[in-house]
Amino acid sequence: MTAARPSLFDWARGLARPVFYLGNNRLSQLGVGLTTASAITLITFYTTEFFGVRIGPYVGIIVFLIFPAVFVFGLFLIPAGIGRKFRREKLAGRLPPEYPRINLADPQLRETILFVMVMSGVNLALFLTATYRGLHYMDSVQFCGLTCHRVMQPEYTAYQNSPHARVACVECHIGPGAPWFVRSKLSGAYQVLSVNLNLYSRPIPTPIEDLRPSRETCEQCHWPLKFHGDKLVVRSHFADDEANTKTYTVLSMHTGGLDPLTREPRGNHGVHLQPGSRIDYLAADHERQQIVYLRYRRPDGDLIEYIAADAAQPIEELRASPLREMDCMDCHNRPTHTFENPGWALDQALEAGRLDPALPFTKKQGLELLQLSFASQAEASSQLRTRLRDFYRSQYPALFNARRQAIEQAADTLVDIYSRNVFPQMNIFWGTYPNNLGHDPFPGCFRCHDGAHSTPDGSRTIPNDCSTCHALLAYEDANPDILRSLRGN
Ligand code: HEC
Ligand code: HEC
Ligand code: HEC
Ligand code: HEC
Ligand code: HEC
Repeated sequence: MTAARPSLFDWARGLARPVFYLGNNRLSQLGVGLTTASAITLITFYTTEFFGVRIGPYVGIIVFLIFPAVFVFGLFLIPAGIGRKFRREKLAGRLPPEYPRINLADPQLRETILFVMVMSGVNLALFLTATYRGLHYMDSVQFCGLTCHRVMQPEYTAYQNSPHARVACVECHIGPGAPWFVRSKLSGAYQVLSVNLNLYSRPIPTPIEDLRPSRETCEQCHWPLKFHGDKLVVRSHFADDEANTKTYTVLSMHTGGLDPLTREPRGNHGVHLQPGSRIDYLAADHERQQIVYLRYRRPDGDLIEYIAADAAQPIEELRASPLREMDCMDCHNRPTHTFENPGWALDQALEAGRLDPALPFTKKQGLELLQLSFASQAEASSQLRTRLRDFYRSQYPALFNARRQAIEQAADTLVDIYSRNVFPQMNIFWGTYPNNLGHDPFPGCFRCHDGAHSTPDGSRTIPNDCSTCHALLAYEDANPDILRSLRGN
């Protein structure tokens, strides 16, 4: 007689027997309970969300991160319980010599097996969905910007008023590809911990040390050499006199790029971003505001070194220091978290009519009030209103009664400007975050183009003539010719 070859079915049955026997324990049962309960909750939430119910940031954490974690934990408890029972019974010598037979003729048992198989299928599908949804959720603007509301409020607020308000945080802070994804999740885990333990610094330090190079973030959307040509920049300024006298400054910015006809690099983008060239620099401070040494590789391969006139270290030491490669973020360090300065913000509000230029001294008063220090945004909100009213009530009583509405609107505008730029709870005040695009009030371009960065032999200096980067077409002029001719009168 030859023994019948065991079939796949017999093998499965052989495996199922100990699982059935050992699966009957408290831990595994708890696992089944947790998994089932969180599965039902998850399916309910996914369904309500499918029908358009919006899920807020805190509920989001529960739905997309905590329930899935409970779900997976439950799944994990099932084999853990089996393992524990196996070990215990083995130690106690209680393991049966042969596991009880599974009698497939028993309809109840057949139903149980069918149930377990169906549930495993559902669980697998749910596990994959929950993983996908959880990761997707952690990449959402809602998660990054609103979850740790207090911490991210300044960046999130400034972001909402910027040209990138529809670009997700992760597009600039993580970018595509698995390695940065994993890195961001690790640093994210640390951030969650530091927020909960109150370890984070206020303000959050800038620049971000290991921000991904712009080649892999900004340049996913922007082509560096796109030809922007010259761009007309018109700025209105309001003086601090009683009439809030308005003037214009008009610049033609030589942004440039690659000239579409000659293929020659033009303007600031052309020179700074042309292929084959690169600039590496050393900053003396963490904020990268004092640049002491730089190395410019030209497209023809020449290497030019520039040293700041006030550099304290000897050149050998500067050369041996680790340098940073200049990229988009060195000029556009505030592409989206664009904190304003009080002067610009008031000028813009006056220009837009949110502050009435007919109210005497609004610019001067606004500047003074915005720069007072308050303990919180709430205090600022009530103080700014009271003080502005007091000013007009005491100095211009007739106007105070006649123009009540304009004064109230001006007060609202001051509160609005304050609360999108100053965050006392995070130690963020005017100017905490420097903006490098320009040269006033932060050094910006003048960190290198100040006329004091020269080659070691002094023969060549980084240009700082006023026409290098822009043509100044009008400067604080009440009625500049250039605007008149553009308007055609
Ligand atoms: C267009 C690209 C871009 C987007 C979109 C973006 N950021 Fe940033 N973010 C930056 C850059 C660039 C810096 C670094 C500035 C520097 O190095 O000086 C930064 C810095 C930060 C900082 C450090 C503090 C600071 O202000 O320098 C935080 C916090 C931050 N971002 C949070 C967020 C959050 C939250 C979102 C989404 C709501 C977001 N960012 C969206 C580009 C972006
Ligand atoms: C997901 C795509 C995307 C990414 C990533 C992105 N941008 Fe943009 N950026 C845009 C779009 C779209 C606009 C145009 C917005 C508009 O005109 O309203 C824009 C506009 C700009 C502008 C012009 C702003 C203005 O005031 O008109 C600058 C400067 C800029 N981006 C720089 C950057 C920098 C620097 C980075 C990397 C830190 C970056 N962008 C990353 C899509 C992106
Ligand atoms: C050397 C500094 C510098 C570097 C580096 C730089 N930019 Fe610019 N960029 C500027 C200046 C200055 C402007 C003009 C600002 C203005 O018009 O107010 C500008 C303008 C822009 C604009 C708006 C153009 C327009 O006319 O609307 C975009 C978009 C832009 N930059 C994207 C980038 C990207 C992407 C990178 C990196 C590949 C980059 N820039 C690197 C200085 C720089
Ligand atoms: C880290 C130093 C550094 C910073 C910051 C910097 N530049 Fe430059 N820039 C250079 C160097 C180096 C050159 C090339 C000088 C040379 O030709 O040897 C250059 C060249 C230029 C040129 C071409 C000048 C010419 O006539 O050939 C323009 C325009 C320019 N930069 C604009 C800007 C603007 C605008 C900013 C600020 C938004 C800026 N740069 C910020 C280092 C810098
Ligand atoms: C290295 C490039 C560079 C050089 C050199 C330079 N500027 Fe500028 N300038 C800029 C940039 C960038 C801006 C900001 C444009 C913007 O805000 O959109 C700016 C803005 C200005 C503004 C407008 C400020 C405002 O908001 O009203 C004035 C005025 C100005 N520059 C004057 C000068 C004068 C005067 C010189 C010569 C001493 C000079 N600039 C040299 C790059 C430069």
